Amino acid sequence: MAQNNVVWHHVLVSRQMKEEQNGHRSAVLWFTGLPCSGKSTIALSVEKRLYEVGAKTTVLDGDNVRHGLCSNLGFSMSDRKENIRRIGEVAKLFIEAGVIAMTAFISPLREYRDDVRALVGSGDFIEIYCDCSVDVCEQRDVKGHYKKAKAGEIKEFTGVSSPYEAPERPEIVLKTDALTVEQCSEQVVEYLKTRGVIR
Ligand code: ADX
Repeated sequence: MAQNNVVWHHVLVSRQMKEEQNGHRSAVLWFTGLPCSGKSTIALSVEKRLYEVGAKTTVLDGDNVRHGLCSNLGFSMSDRKENIRRIGEVAKLFIEAGVIAMTAFISPLREYRDDVRALVGSGDFIEIYCDCSVDVCEQRDVKGHYKKAKAGEIKEFTGVSSPYEAPERPEIVLKTDALTVEQCSEQVVEYLKTRGVIR
């Protein structure tokens, strides 16, 4: 709910001026996928490549953001929705700041992701599906969460006892169970060139 008696303050340095200074456009790269599907790893790898060509970037990651901005949220569907809403708002701020923002959140439902797409604007929202079978994610189980979820020690765990809806028309599909991290991050960077985000 918007506050009463609060008016929007207009800026003197526009997004376009920031983009021109940076030499690239801003965008949100919205990684989505099951736990252990490679979202954070690939986002960090893309960030390294973009840093090397001088781009301004940030990575927002579920595990980290849930220690601060979203520390009051759990994993019920309503809390996940609020988690994604907040990250969408933060990503929008980064867009206005001229930055390429990468987000690595499960963001399990299409509705949540579509809400962010609508908030940010389709032209700036690049949905990246980390496509990895639940079997491979479970084999990776980097944090041991699948094992705990299967033992009933973690409730409402995505892919085990909580739903995940794959995107229907993502801008990018990364076959993270078949390709290396390097191949996937290369695929993203090439897409950013064809889309005119970077040169
Ligand atoms: S989301 O569903 O709201 O998008 P988010 O990406 O922020 O989830 O957080 C996922 C991370 O939280 C996972 O990487 C995992 O480490 C941890 N986690 C803890 N409990 C759960 C759970 N029940 N379901 C999914 N992830 C969980």
